[in-house]
Amino acid sequence: MKLTLGLLLSLTAFFASPAYAASSKVALDNVELDLSDKASLQRGAKIFMNYCLSCHSASYMRYNRMGKDLGLSDKQVKESLMFASDKVGDTMTVAMRPEDAKKWFGVVPPDLSVISRARGTDWLYTYLRSYYLDTDKPLGTNNLVFTDVGMPHVLWQEQGYLRKDSDNQLHALTGDQEMAFEYSMMIRDLVNFMAYIGEPSKIERLALGKWVLLYLVLFFFVAYPLKKAFWEDVH
Ligand code: HEC
Repeated sequence: MKLTLGLLLSLTAFFASPAYAASSKVALDNVELDLSDKASLQRGAKIFMNYCLSCHSASYMRYNRMGKDLGLSDKQVKESLMFASDKVGDTMTVAMRPEDAKKWFGVVPPDLSVISRARGTDWLYTYLRSYYLDTDKPLGTNNLVFTDVGMPHVLWQEQGYLRKDSDNQLHALTGDQEMAFEYSMMIRDLVNFMAYIGEPSKIERLALGKWVLLYLVLFFFVAYPLKKAFWEDVH
């Protein structure tokens, strides 16, 4: 008994100690996504096309498939989400050559098709909101959940700049509460879209699920009177 208590105390002391806190990972912010929210997915698609596709590809995804899933016509996709040179049947490739990317960023930006499954959506949501100014770095910024990241803070105009205090907390240098809130909503839409491209058939499954439930409910109203009719004679 004494031993267990001692162990418990030392464990508590260990986890409460600053040394442990320093080595522990950054807590991720939880994001509630909604794949049935087409407006959110459309906003996310727009941000993705404008800010991410210049460096990253999403080569498992075709524009027209995306349009269909998001409730947009080919014409709408072409006019508002695509660069003129692509065809709607194309996959989302990137114009930048890998050699150039390596030269500029030291590393080739990875394809983002399944990044939501590889990293998890909470990680993405936190990552894109965790850039802070760091003058020691070549890009002038660093990231709380991806130390020394080779990607610049491409959305700084939307978020403003953050600084990090000695407790690893981020604070806004520019921008106010409202801007921070708007930025989080924007990142939620973007992560929602990345969750969608990571598993496009999930939308169909969710939609199908509703019909299956409806079918079961309707079927009950057929089956129940039938059952009653069958058993009437037996009683
Ligand atoms: C200017 C080029 C550039 C743009 C634009 C860009 N990225 Fe990146 N991104 C990179 C590079 C380079 C890396 C690799 C960083 C590393 O490994 O250090 C990267 C890495 C990432 C990673 C981490 C991948 C991993 O797990 O290793 C994610 C997630 C990501 N980018 C998402 C985005 C999103 C979302 C956007 C659009 C808002 C975007 N990127 C725009 C260059 C870019």
